[in-house]
Amino acid sequence: MKAYTKFVAIGAIALGLGIGMAACSSGPKEIVIGGVGPVTGEAATFGVSTKNAYEMAIAEWNANKGINGKQLKLVFADDKGDPTEGATVYTKLIQQDKVVAIVGTVMSKVSLAGAPICQSSGIPMISPTSTNPKVTEVGDFIFRACFIDPFQGTVGAQFAFNDLGAKKAAALFDSGNDYAKGLSEFFKAKFEELGGAGSVVAFEGHASGTTDFKAQLTKILAAKPDVLYVSDYYQDVALIAKQARELGFKGPMVGGDGWDSPDLVKIGGAAVENGFFTNHYSAEDTRPIVQDFVKKYTAKYGAAPDALATLGYDAMTLMLDAIKRAGKTDGKSIRDALKAADLAVVSGQVKFDASRNPVKSAVIIEIKDGKQVYKTTVNP
Ligand code: PHE
Repeated sequence: MKAYTKFVAIGAIALGLGIGMAACSSGPKEIVIGGVGPVTGEAATFGVSTKNAYEMAIAEWNANKGINGKQLKLVFADDKGDPTEGATVYTKLIQQDKVVAIVGTVMSKVSLAGAPICQSSGIPMISPTSTNPKVTEVGDFIFRACFIDPFQGTVGAQFAFNDLGAKKAAALFDSGNDYAKGLSEFFKAKFEELGGAGSVVAFEGHASGTTDFKAQLTKILAAKPDVLYVSDYYQDVALIAKQARELGFKGPMVGGDGWDSPDLVKIGGAAVENGFFTNHYSAEDTRPIVQDFVKKYTAKYGAAPDALATLGYDAMTLMLDAIKRAGKTDGKSIRDALKAADLAVVSGQVKFDASRNPVKSAVIIEIKDGKQVYKTTVNP
């Protein structure tokens, strides 16, 4: 009887210890990071690449013992390319999943919905790809891993004027998209500085979600531009290119990073030839850090990384590096560590300016025989 009681007592202590240890290991042993991107909706290829890259970075850090002995857990949410949905998922990640930081999202118009939520909750956010200047202006918890559109629009205008020799330009953009509208405005300002007042002969917005651009294009072509600037995302760009060619436009088209999708050529076909766009990186870049990334991403996902994948990986790396240097997971400590970043990531060296934007170069890509061909790099 005595021996039995002793056995039960030991058993109970052992069980108690076991439960106690389990309780300790589940909570604080894990760091929860939010990831956001559009894996469905108007620009779904953007989200697929971004999600792949987030997952790859997290897996690598976990295989390398996580951060300060803690494993990392990624909670990914699809914003569907929609600002209302974006606000919902940012709130869910913060309130329900208790993330310590958010990496995302892709489209400026959706980041503009998520950023105020991060700012007021004191949760640091880094957008991999949102280039509209207003995104980081929301507040000091908001960062990005890419250049901004005043630079991108300037590079596009210089390329059109100097390299393509265009004297007259026209622009067509989604007027319900902060990124597209802003980028066309920056392009126009620089082109007119180079070509003189009136050198942008047509400047036309279209409604979001439309698939018929003939009314705007007819007006644009009547003004006889040498080049057509299209600052939309790839689906619209492909349809605009097709309709512009149908209406007889033979000149070059220029655009921004929103062109970067395998679907541009799939939808646009021959119409997007003689097309050029500014982007964040090229898979043809021979620097070892780029080629290593291209190799391991291609091995894992079966296609070379586009700019979305590269910037998604870089943004996640910047955030994890900041959490590691902070040594703590409260929002302010992570934010302060992020502000002090000076890190070589795949798309370049990242150091933030006072507005939490990195200063980075752009590349120009040409669509040639259905492929993206690297043309040149432009430094800020
Ligand atoms: N820059 C775009 C935006 O701000 C998003 C984007 C980045 C799209 C890179 C494609 C490639 O909305």
